[in-house]
Amino acid sequence: MGAESPASFRQMEICTSLRRTQVMKILLALVMLGLMSSRGAECRKRRVLDSFDYSAISCRAHSASLTDFGGVGDGITSNTNAFQSAINSLSQYSSDGGSQLFVPEGKWLTGSFNLTSHFTLYLHKDAVLLASQDVSEWSVIDPLPSYGRGRDAAGGRYISLIFGTNLTDVVITGDNGTIDGQGQIWWQKFHQKKLTYTRPYLIEIMHSDQVQISNLTLVNSPAWNVHPVYSSNVVVKGITITAPITSPNTDGINPDSCSNVRIEDCYIISGDDCVAVKSGWDEYGIAYGMPTKGLIIRRLTCISPYSAVIALGSEMSGGIQDVRAEDIVAINSESGVRIKTAVGRGGYVKDIYVKGMTMKTMKWALWMTGNYGSHPDPHYDPKALPVIQGINYRDIVADNVTMAARLEGISGDPFTGICISNVTINKSPKPKKVQWVCTDVDGVTSGVVPQPCAPLTKGDQSAEGINSCDFPTDTLPVDNMEFKTCSYSRSYLL
Ligand SMILES: *[C@@H]1O[C@H](CO)[C@@H](O)[C@H](O)[C@H]1NC(C)=O
Ligand SMILES: *[C@@H]1O[C@H](CO)[C@@H](O)[C@H](O)[C@H]1NC(C)=O
Ligand SMILES: *[C@@H]1O[C@H](CO)[C@@H](O)[C@H](O)[C@H]1NC(C)=O
Ligand SMILES: *[C@@H]1O[C@H](CO)[C@@H](O)[C@H](O)[C@H]1NC(C)=O
Ligand SMILES: *[C@@H]1O[C@H](CO)[C@@H](O)[C@H](O)[C@H]1NC(C)=O
Ligand SMILES: *[C@@H]1O[C@H](CO)[C@@H](O)[C@H](O)[C@H]1NC(C)=O
Repeated sequence: MGAESPASFRQMEICTSLRRTQVMKILLALVMLGLMSSRGAECRKRRVLDSFDYSAISCRAHSASLTDFGGVGDGITSNTNAFQSAINSLSQYSSDGGSQLFVPEGKWLTGSFNLTSHFTLYLHKDAVLLASQDVSEWSVIDPLPSYGRGRDAAGGRYISLIFGTNLTDVVITGDNGTIDGQGQIWWQKFHQKKLTYTRPYLIEIMHSDQVQISNLTLVNSPAWNVHPVYSSNVVVKGITITAPITSPNTDGINPDSCSNVRIEDCYIISGDDCVAVKSGWDEYGIAYGMPTKGLIIRRLTCISPYSAVIALGSEMSGGIQDVRAEDIVAINSESGVRIKTAVGRGGYVKDIYVKGMTMKTMKWALWMTGNYGSHPDPHYDPKALPVIQGINYRDIVADNVTMAARLEGISGDPFTGICISNVTINKSPKPKKVQWVCTDVDGVTSGVVPQPCAPLTKGDQSAEGINSCDFPTDTLPVDNMEFKTCSYSRSYLL
């Protein structure tokens, strides 16, 4: 806190070459020699300065380091209490300028902890949060009301590593520091069907407004990585997510019953969908009735050999509306944008706009699935049919594709208002003979190669030039969420 005097800068320069552990050892030796009381020796008590700027939606008046609360970054000591007591203590500033908690370089083993409002968690570039593999470090919380149950097991679910609910103005960022979910034990339990509760996510923010998650690397999540749910005004930017491509349900970013969300500049390799847009499951999602709407996805690079680059569903019972995806790169992925739904879901997926997508090595460039199945329980309403309407794809080039499109609506409930324009799909050396399969879908195409299926060729005017599908030109409120330059500057004696 406060400005640092030039003297301390000099002192820091003198001392920075000493590693902290070495300093500790020297301090210990000095204590034993009884020399600590003598003043003026530059390096006996080292003044350390952590000072840097970063971008955030709001800056904070108060600062602390995890080490102030007994944090030990040795990769062995549990820091759950250090994190929770730091945040509990800093929550006193929620109505007094807010606070920021700095996580220095080190390996910080921790169980789950809860965030507070007007708060920033900042990870140094060499800070690694290691998720505890001790199940007792994860409390069990209620299932999401819009899902009715956990996804892995009926009943409750393990709380996420970083959890926040009913918050305003929360930032999780860093200089590309790492959050390592150490998911292997969870994936194993999942495969062996030994889970009592649903696996934890890495970051879950519920019922919150004004959320920023940026400049971090997330690895090996037990399941989903970033899950904003029942929240609004959320920016996820500059996140790298990696998990083994065979790891179960390691979705990248899952906006779920959220409005005004912006996902940009993210790089994701995962075992499930890179971005999965959701809004609750069958009768629970219908009853909760909270859609995801006003979602921007731009400059996303995705590798997902067994799943989609962007999935809409399969849990979409609260509705999904106004999704704008732009400048998407996909490599070695199962499908590009995929709509997943089923009889019993209810809800809708409408006003979806995709513009500018480059894909290489894909099984299906375009995929819509009306019979996804996967119900929370047998009590879903078979009369609850989803409405899929107004799906616009344009300016797409895909190379090395096994099958161009597999578009399967629901019998008696066709997917309508599909528009596909300026799309070139180049086949792989071993392509499917039939490149387009279309059932229960209806729409128009223009400038699409190879020749689309009959239900989509009514409006083809490629001979007279390309008739582009819509892409909105207005801005969404989340576009106006801007970053300020904030600073963290804090010195202390070590
Ligand atoms: C992310 O980091 C880059 C530099 O690496 C910086 O320019 C940018 O402001 C940061 N953005 C956010 C939102 O944290
Ligand atoms: C974190 O919040 C959840 C849900 O509100 C609660 O069950 C849990 O006990 C909280 N954890 C701590 C350490 O306060
Ligand atoms: C959090 O917000 C939700 C939705 O507004 C509300 O139903 C719930 O009671 C709130 N929980 C707490 C702990 O304030
Ligand atoms: C962040 O770290 C990851 C993992 O090391 C790296 O792949 C990525 O390029 C880094 N991002 C930035 C912006 O430096
Ligand atoms: C094309 O896709 C096939 C799988 O269908 C893959 O084995 C092959 O490596 C890809 N070729 C290139 C040049 O990427
Ligand atoms: C077609 O898409 C390409 C990108 O794939 C773009 O560069 C080009 O401008 C588009 N053409 C039209 C007519 O929109």
